[in-house]
Amino acid sequence: MKVLILGVNGFIGSHLSENILKTTDWEVYGLDVESNKISDIVDNPRFNFVKGDVTVDKDKEWIEHNIKECDVVLPLVAIATPATYIKNPLKVFELDFETNLEIIKKAVKYKTRVVFPSTSEVYGMCTDEAFDEDKSNFILGPTNKQRWIYSCCKQLLDRVMWAYGFEKDFKFTIFRPYNWIGPKLDDIYTTKEGGSRVLTQFIGNVLKNEPMKLVNGGHQKRCFLYIDDGIKCLTKIIGDKSGVTNGMIFNIGNPKNNVTIRELASRVRKIFYKHPIIKSTNLIKKIDIEDVSEKIFYGEGYQDVSFRVPSIKKARDVLGWEPLIGLDAALRKTIDYYLADNKFSRKVVNK
Ligand code: UGA
Repeated sequence: MKVLILGVNGFIGSHLSENILKTTDWEVYGLDVESNKISDIVDNPRFNFVKGDVTVDKDKEWIEHNIKECDVVLPLVAIATPATYIKNPLKVFELDFETNLEIIKKAVKYKTRVVFPSTSEVYGMCTDEAFDEDKSNFILGPTNKQRWIYSCCKQLLDRVMWAYGFEKDFKFTIFRPYNWIGPKLDDIYTTKEGGSRVLTQFIGNVLKNEPMKLVNGGHQKRCFLYIDDGIKCLTKIIGDKSGVTNGMIFNIGNPKNNVTIRELASRVRKIFYKHPIIKSTNLIKKIDIEDVSEKIFYGEGYQDVSFRVPSIKKARDVLGWEPLIGLDAALRKTIDYYLADNKFSRKVVNK
């Protein structure tokens, strides 16, 4: 099987490629503007990497050719950080919606199957105890809260694919990640405040000797899923030969790892305090946790989701998938990765 991954150097793309090369005999065709996260696999003969940009005409020709040649395409390029939804909502619309729509239309043209990353954000402020892919309503705020533009872009793409499936027999499967975490999530050294997702924001804060900031007191809850669990599920979807997943939507999250952001900060702090590298180097003496209002942290265009728990019944029943990694293990593995990262370990060596 030939798998085309656009955004192959991203958090999901890089882990997925590694797993495909390790556990299957498939070939990966990947495009990205960067290659720092795929250095371990870039020389693998079954990995065909091209440096390129999904928005540039020259690279669009390569993309079209490979959509035609491959069995399945995963369009993973998207802005996925809430601070950007608020600062640059048009950039989110252009990249997440317009560019991906072009890719989907090409897949329709060449009858290539698409496995598409939707998002848990589509459910917005849904009040269901557990969000169901086929029953839960989507509840978004007003237009002047531009945080919802990401949710809206993804929702419309989901609906467009659904419509192509309904009217033109287009083959697709949609997956909705719920706060996936792990190594390579965001670059903690280049990111600005609010510029990365919460866990990497916190790890970055600690490593830069800044306080972790709890937006609106940190009472809001999220279910965090370790990347390896998510990738196992995604690989099963891609490898579906029977066509059973065609036209289906899957939540991929871990309902058991459901904590407030305040609890997350306190667990992160505990792991750092107990960590052998931190204990032996004395590089981080005190980790503070502060409250901050959403207006100060994100600005007027922000509105939050208070809780979101996935129903993973469908992934269990159809794919036989179950998330296995608990929150503390997931946090520990992620923190280990960022502590081993060059920029921090250089500090340790110099000490
Ligand atoms: C995220 C992003 O929209 C996407 O990456 C993704 O599609 C989706 O959720 C997902 O992974 O399921 P959200 O969970 O709100 O949305 O994003 P985070 O930036 O990780 O924030 C989580 C919570 O922590 C929010 O309530 C936020 O206000 C809070 N937060 C964030 C803090 O309290 N402090 C921080 O420093 C950063």
